[in-house]
Order: sequence, then structure tokens, then C-alpha cells
Amino acid sequence: MRDPDTVPDIRDFRRVVFFTGAGMSAESGVPTYRGQGGIWKQYDYASYACQDAFDADPAKVWDFHNYRRKLVAACEPNAGHGLIARCEEALPHVTVVTQNIDGLHQRAGSRTVHELHGSLWRVRCGDERLLSFDVPFEGRRADGRWWRPDIVWFGDALRADVIQASVEAIERCDLLVSIGTSAVVYPAAQLPLLARRAGATMIEINPDETPVSDAYDLCLRGTATDMLGRLCRNLD
Ligand code: OAD
Repeated sequence: MRDPDTVPDIRDFRRVVFFTGAGMSAESGVPTYRGQGGIWKQYDYASYACQDAFDADPAKVWDFHNYRRKLVAACEPNAGHGLIARCEEALPHVTVVTQNIDGLHQRAGSRTVHELHGSLWRVRCGDERLLSFDVPFEGRRADGRWWRPDIVWFGDALRADVIQASVEAIERCDLLVSIGTSAVVYPAAQLPLLARRAGATMIEINPDETPVSDAYDLCLRGTATDMLGRLCRNLD
């Protein structure tokens, strides 16, 4: 493992993928899922984040998602989101592959964002999809049916088109930066490893070790904003 004091300069890379998880938004005030104060410590995911729960009690599941909409709507993108958006302007190819559903990368200005787990701000019903930033969102439709949050819940498959676009970017990158993910949810957790197989430089940003830390050339043990600040120190 390289000396953590010699953090590379992001400008030395041409094709960068930022692979992000809940820790990316922690400094914006969005709770993570696991660890202290984690969402799944307070809420049993089987009652709020799976198709069976929605089928049994859509109003209850919508109450939970409207609580999350309200919470995220009150948060702002942090300096780390901002730096990633700046990279997209300054470097030839920058892609964000995120497990986050909060939309903060897009609010910070990132344009090429693949949302592996869907979006809190999109809903669907049958083949219809709708983007809505309403808080609260009225889940029950005029025709009596329900909009469903367009989120990949437990037991759902990821969208094939989103996986394909993510894999293409990851397999072509020369730098993969994983930020703020516990790397325990599959298949998302294994995607960054494709970059390693393709010969990319691998950097993990996380205050804590993860089950895949060994796959990284450099592990920056700190917060997303601090460590991105070091990596992107020469952007301006
Ligand atoms: P987790 O909550 O599992 O992990 C968050 C990670 O962020 C942990 O490894 C923390 O150490 C790290 N972290 C905390 N604060 C940080 C900071 N300021 N800077 C950098 N890192 C920090 O979240 P995810 O790995 O994103 O899926 O969880 C993966 C998936 O599990 C989520 O997308 C969600 C959840 O169930 C769905 O809802 C489908």
C-alpha cells in the first residue's frame, strides 16, 4: 500500500469514476444506513423498504419515504459533492456511480450520475415514471392506484441499463475513488473491483476499514470532504 501522505493529484487522471455511498452525504446531514444513528437501526427495513411491505401497507411506506424526502430536502450538497462536480468540468471523463438516492450529486452540479439504487425523487406506477420534488409526495393517485418510490428496495433487482452504464465507466477508468460506503450490499459492493481488474488506480475514502479495503492501492482514513480536498487540491 502506498504512503498515505503522498496523495495523488486528481489532475493526473483522465477517466475518473467516483463510487459513492451514504458516507458521501453524511456531512450534509443525511443519516447513513449502518453504524451509529443509521436508518436501519431505527427502522426495520422489512417494514419500510421492500415490495411486500409496500403491498401490505403503501401509506405506511409512503410516510417513511416522505419523512426521508423532508429530511433530504432540508440538506445541502457538501464541499465534497462540489469538488466532484468541479472535476467533471476540469477533467476529460468523470462519472459518478452512486448507491445514494438523495440526488445531492446532481444538486451540486454533477451531470453524469448513475443511480444504482434509484432515486427518492422519482416514482413509478406500471410503466409510468415521474420526477417530483414534492414534500410530501401524495402517493395515492386520482385513479386509486399508488405511485411507488423508484428505489431499489431489498429483494429488488437493479436496473440492467444502469448497471451496464456503470460497468462500462468502471471498466474504462484509470482512477476509481470509492467514498463512504460500507461495501456490504451486493451487487453494488463488487462493482469497484472491476476497475482493479482492468488496471485502474484504486483509492478508498472512508474513516473506517471496509471488507474490500485490501483491493485499494490507497486508503484515505478521513471524511469525504477532507480527503476529497486533498485529492482535488490543484483543481482551481
Ligand atoms: P452504510 O451506512 O452501510 O455505510 C456508510 C459508510 O460511510 C460507512 O462505511 C462509514 O464508515 C462511512 N462514513 C461515515 N461518515 C463518513 C464521512 N463523513 N465521510 C466518508 N465516509 C463516511 O451506507 P452504504 O454503504 O451506502 O440501499 O449502504 C449501501 C446500501 O445499503 C444503501 O444504498 C442502501 C442501504 O440499504 C438501499 O436502500 C437499496
